Amino acid sequence: MVEPDAVRPFGVEIDLQNGRMLRPERTTVRRASDMRGYYADPGALERLIEEGDNPVHYEVFETPVPETPGNLMYCISALQPGLVGQEFFMTKGHYHEVKETAELYLCLKGQGLMLMKTETGDCTAEAMARGRLVYVPPGWAHRSANTGAETLVSFCVYPAEAGHNYGDIEQEGFPKRVLRVNGRPELVSAAAE
Ligand SMILES: [Fe+2]
Repeated sequence: MVEPDAVRPFGVEIDLQNGRMLRPERTTVRRASDMRGYYADPGALERLIEEGDNPVHYEVFETPVPETPGNLMYCISALQPGLVGQEFFMTKGHYHEVKETAELYLCLKGQGLMLMKTETGDCTAEAMARGRLVYVPPGWAHRSANTGAETLVSFCVYPAEAGHNYGDIEQEGFPKRVLRVNGRPELVSAAAE
């Protein structure tokens, strides 16, 4: 039995050009200092924090809905361009707490890669560019990296009960990193670190 009063129908406005949700109820901001432990070159990150004024890495704009089955959570994610050493700016990445939940990312602007991995070590990447939709299947951790010169903007949607598990990725990382090699983005194995 659906509780019709749980959430009322509503609409939100999205600035597709600039990748912002207008009047979001919740905005998550991750700065360089929030990304300690994630990059291959921690010294380069510290220099960015000290000398680069601790720049914003990414913002996530949300209008939350109840985190119950049947609802859909959605967001606008805006990841800034930049490098930490030779590694492109990226998001922390996460599994969903409820593993049986997928996610859709529709890229609205910019250039990047969506890195995905399973708990058994399978790792792959899909290109992100305006008009490309990336399907993240259930059980796959996901992280995006901005390989372009402008903000990488995506619209994402996923089952509202999914939840976020950041801790496992913080501990284990991804088997591959997105590095600039000879001026071009390349997927490089993290095994040698
Ligand atoms: Fe997710």
